[in-house]
Amino acid sequence: MTKIIEGNVHAERLRAEVTGEVARLQAEHDLQPGLAVVLVGDDPASQAYVKSKGEQSTAAGMYSVTHLLPGDTSQETLMARVTELAADPRLHGILVQLPLPKHLDEKPVIAAIGPDKDVDGLHVVNAGRLVAGLPALVACTPTGCLVLIKATLGDLTGKHAVVVGRSLLVGKPIAQLLLAEDCTVTMAHSKTVDLPSICRTADILVAAVGKPRMIRGDWIKPGACVIDVGINRVPFDNPEQAALGKTKIVGDVNYKEALEVAGSITPVPKGVGPMTVAVLLQNTVKAAKLQAGIAV
Ligand code: GUN
Repeated sequence: MTKIIEGNVHAERLRAEVTGEVARLQAEHDLQPGLAVVLVGDDPASQAYVKSKGEQSTAAGMYSVTHLLPGDTSQETLMARVTELAADPRLHGILVQLPLPKHLDEKPVIAAIGPDKDVDGLHVVNAGRLVAGLPALVACTPTGCLVLIKATLGDLTGKHAVVVGRSLLVGKPIAQLLLAEDCTVTMAHSKTVDLPSICRTADILVAAVGKPRMIRGDWIKPGACVIDVGINRVPFDNPEQAALGKTKIVGDVNYKEALEVAGSITPVPKGVGPMTVAVLLQNTVKAAKLQAGIAV
């Protein structure tokens, strides 16, 4: 029987822990962790994520602000806004929702956030500290994936992890986190030769490519732990519903096929997705404590 890894259950537990810690910081240190989320443009999926980040941080007792900027915002205007937020002492974390519209460059924006408020773990200082094995703010989705993998498998020593996708937001940091757990890590990507054979050697298979149902059942080693980071919107399978324009969310893994082979698997939705926001809250609390000189 394949174990379904219930990300929403783990996320709820994490959110409850964060809520407790926020209350403790307020009571014992007069400190309210604060998070700013910035969205440029009106992509519906990004709007939904940003709304959820704002609502969940408020629900956890944090100071929360959301800045919605029009899609034609200039680089200068965005930089000015982020610089302003970076100087606001009520804010301990800043997240600029990605991807940005094509005319904007995310690198100087992330640099303007600075490493201390970089709750996304995207600043070169945090990315470098992770590689160097130093304490760092680490990207939310990979941190959430690792929580799920450890909760499912326990000790990861010596396991072969294959990470498909090499983004700064997911692929690269999850590979580093798995390496730090003494996994043997293979990074695969769009130019990898014979990807199915490589995936078949994985005890832990992390799919973060953004291609709907790309990983087939016969790419999976029997009993493997499959972590599906993909969130892809596709037409309904039923042609009548598809013709009505109905869509649904699927992962990067062919879930139906994978269920026949995997030992454990994250569903999409309700798998990795809810963990991302829960870890964002956790990272904001961590950033607030570091900035206030409180032990983390
Ligand atoms: N877009 C999709 N996931 C993320 C994330 O974790 N952080 C940011 N900033 N943008 C995203």
